[in-house]
Amino acid sequence: MRQKKRVLLLFGGRSGEHEVSINSAASVMAALDREKYDVIPVAITRDGKWLAGVTPAWIMSGGSPTSAADAGEDAKHVFLPADPNFRGLKVLGERSADGENMVDVVIPVLHGTYGEDGTVQGLLELANVPYVGAGVLGAALGMDKVMMKTVLAQQGLPQAGFWWCLRKDWEKDPETLTEDLEQKLGYPCFIKPANLGSSVGISKARNRDELVRGMDLAASYDRKIIVEEFIDAREVEVSVLGNDDPAASLPGEIVSHNEFYDYQSKYVDGLSHLIIPADLPADTVERLRDLAVKVFRGLECAGLARVDFFIRKNNGEVLVNEINTFPGFTRFSMYPKLWEATGIGYRELLDRLIDLAFERHRDKNRSQTDFKPPGR
Ligand SMILES: Nc1ncnc2c1ncn2[C@@H]1O[C@H](COP(=O)(O)OP(=O)(O)O)[C@@H](O)[C@H]1O
Ligand SMILES: [Mg+2]
Repeated sequence: MRQKKRVLLLFGGRSGEHEVSINSAASVMAALDREKYDVIPVAITRDGKWLAGVTPAWIMSGGSPTSAADAGEDAKHVFLPADPNFRGLKVLGERSADGENMVDVVIPVLHGTYGEDGTVQGLLELANVPYVGAGVLGAALGMDKVMMKTVLAQQGLPQAGFWWCLRKDWEKDPETLTEDLEQKLGYPCFIKPANLGSSVGISKARNRDELVRGMDLAASYDRKIIVEEFIDAREVEVSVLGNDDPAASLPGEIVSHNEFYDYQSKYVDGLSHLIIPADLPADTVERLRDLAVKVFRGLECAGLARVDFFIRKNNGEVLVNEINTFPGFTRFSMYPKLWEATGIGYRELLDRLIDLAFERHRDKNRSQTDFKPPGR
């Protein structure tokens, strides 16, 4: 009989989206096919400890581990050595034989900083373990809104006009930067920390007062701030699945109850809803799917990503808003829901993502990593 694959499920993490990740991981954990996979859950605490044997369900039922001792006898403080000869977890302070606790593939169900931004991906590359989702570059580009938009602009993809600065320059000379920004973008505009998610630190400014307040708020979260022209638009999202030749799902629409799709409307008040599939003319749907694939490829993504768009209310123009390289993944999240509407169920989606992780890993390992100059 074929051996079961050992799947390391990473969740939690040092991120403002810690809870969101736990919810996503609970759904993933419940759905993974146990005929095919042995699942090793590892909770990453808010301060970055890796605790094996702690399940998302246990945390959701009120458990809040800060150490392995909090989480019961089975929990162990572990780490993943960067050394590719191990390819597995080690228990902190314990000797283990090489080859023990090996993992076949990792699903980093992590959103935001230290998880969706290329950092965990870097560790997994060093360890040479296959993993689901974008690599270092794709994840890092997707996380930094300034770099993401700079690369998309270079590829001629349509998006809102933007302006950015470093926090230290804003703090040094807010007057000059305000004038520059007013001249280039004007009001209303949207102010965002460059590297956050879940709408944290984002605000709309209609005038100079609100701009200054919004810049100060964003500056409290990030060393880099991006400001965008305000787009009066419907918000639609498309799921992308694949590696070099990815497929795009049908689009879904988000109807937010608040003025914009802020943290409250995303996770708290339950008043936003998703329309799946979005009610749009066929040519707009085609345009969205085509652009979603272009954005995915243009930002060097792999496995999965959700590409978010604006459709201008006045003329139907489609603009790219952003990419999420590990989008919300609960059973009710947009990413899997869109695939369900397009014909791929939640469990099958996980199978496909794991296969894509192996495919990408094989492809990468075909490249030579050593080079001996001739004559030596
Ligand atoms: N340029 C913009 N014009 C109008 N609304 C915007 C703009 N940028 C962001 N928003 C609103 O703010 C929300 C969060 O912004 P987004 O860039 O998607 O950040 P996050 O990464 O936190 O999701 C969007 O879903 C949208 O409702
Ligand atoms: Mg967003």
